[in-house]
Amino acid sequence: MTNGNLIVKNAAELVTCSGFAAKVGPAMNDLRIIADGAVVARQGVIEAVGPSAKVLDGMDTRGFTVIDAAGRAVLPGFVDSHTHFVFGGYRAEEFSWRLRGDSYMQIMERGGGIVSTVAATRAASREELVASGLKRLDSMLAFGVTTVEGKSGYGLDLDTEIKQLEAMGDIDAAHPVDVVRTFMGAHAVPAEYQGREDAFIDYLIAEVLPRVVAGRLAEFCDIFCEKKVFSIAQSRRLLGRAMALGLKAKLHADEIVQLGGAELAAELGAVSADHLLQASEAGIRDLAAAGVIATLLPGTAFSLKEPYARGRHMIDSGCAVALASDLNPGSCFSESIPLVMALATLYMAITPEEAVTALTLNGAAALGRADSIGSIDVGKAADLVIHEFPSYRFLPYHIGVSTVEKVVKRGRLVFDKTQREAYRAC
Ligand code: NIG
Ligand code: FE
Repeated sequence: MTNGNLIVKNAAELVTCSGFAAKVGPAMNDLRIIADGAVVARQGVIEAVGPSAKVLDGMDTRGFTVIDAAGRAVLPGFVDSHTHFVFGGYRAEEFSWRLRGDSYMQIMERGGGIVSTVAATRAASREELVASGLKRLDSMLAFGVTTVEGKSGYGLDLDTEIKQLEAMGDIDAAHPVDVVRTFMGAHAVPAEYQGREDAFIDYLIAEVLPRVVAGRLAEFCDIFCEKKVFSIAQSRRLLGRAMALGLKAKLHADEIVQLGGAELAAELGAVSADHLLQASEAGIRDLAAAGVIATLLPGTAFSLKEPYARGRHMIDSGCAVALASDLNPGSCFSESIPLVMALATLYMAITPEEAVTALTLNGAAALGRADSIGSIDVGKAADLVIHEFPSYRFLPYHIGVSTVEKVVKRGRLVFDKTQREAYRAC
C-alpha cells in the first residue's frame, strides 16, 4: 500500500469537471478541461491541479508515485449513484420470459421479480452476500467507478434488511471503492403482507427504520413509488418518517406509470428522484425548482424495452441530471458505464459533456458528496481515472467498451489494465 502521494502528469486532457455542487442545465456542458494537465495528491487528497509545467515547476517529487498520462484523458472517478449490487441468486429465466413478451410488472404481479430475489437473499449468509458483492465491485472498479451507492430491499424483513446493509458495510471496509448505503425496505410488498401495504409501511416504520438509524446502517431511504407497489401517500409517510430520523430521501419515481413521484420528490426535498421515464411536465418543473437531482438509468429502459426518460428535456428545463447503472438482478443486470454513456448520448440526446458531468459531479451530488468527490479540485479525494484515449470524447464513441486504463482511489493505484497486458508475453 502506498502513501497516497501521487502525481499524474502530462494528461492530454485533464477533465476536471470542477465544481462543488450539482451542475444544472447548460452548466452541465462545462467540463473545465486543462490541456497537458497535472494533478498532485498528498495522502490521498488533491493538493494542486493545473498545466503540468506550472504544477510541477520546482516541486520536490520525492516520495510521490508518478504516472505519466501522456496521450491520455484523465477524469474524476465515476460515481454510480443508483445500484442494487448486493443480492442473492440471479433471474436469468426472467430475462427469457421478458424476451417472450411478459412485462416486468406482470412477472412481479405473479410472484416473481424482486420477490424471488428476496427469497434468495434471505437464504444467503452475510458472508455469501459480501463475497458476491465484492466481485461485482471489482467489475465496477474496472469500469472506472470509485464510489457506488447500494440499496437494501431484497430482505423486506428486519433481519435480512439489516444483513444486507451490514454486508455493504463489510464490502466498503474491504474494497477500495466506497459504498454509500441506502435503506430500501419498501422495495416490494413481501408475500406475508400481500394486500396489506399500509401495514407493511407501519412495520417498516415501527420495527426496521429505527434499527437502521440506531445502527447507522444507511444514509438514505428509498421507496419503489409505483402503481401496484407503494402509493404516493405511503411513500410520503415512510420517507417523511425517515427524514425526521435524519436519513436523506430518494425515490424510484414514475418508472412504469406516471404516478406523481417526481412531484412528491420535490415536495419532500428529496436528494434525488430516480428513473423518471414517465415523469410529467409539472413533475420535471418541480424537480428543477426544488433542486432535486434527476437520476436517469438508461440501462434499465434499454433492458425493459421502455421509452427512455426525457433527459434532453430535463436538462433544458433546468434540472441537474445524474446518470447511473441501476445494476440489479432483474430490470438491469449491468454495471456497464460505457453502455450508460452510449445510451444516454445516442438515445436521450444528452451530449458527451453532459454525460460526463452526470456520471461524476452530479452523481456525487446525488449522494450528498459534491463537496468531497466527483471532480478534480483541490481539497477533494484523489479519485481519478486514466483513460487509454486522448479525449473524453472517446467514452461514448467507443460504444459499449471500457476505455479505462488505470484507476486511482484516494491517491492509490487500484486498477491497472496494462498489468493484464503482461499476459501477452506468456
Ligand atoms: O430500479 N424498480 C424497482 N427496483 C429496481 C429493480 C429491482 C429488481 O428487479 O430486482 C429498479 O429497476
Ligand atoms: Fe433501482
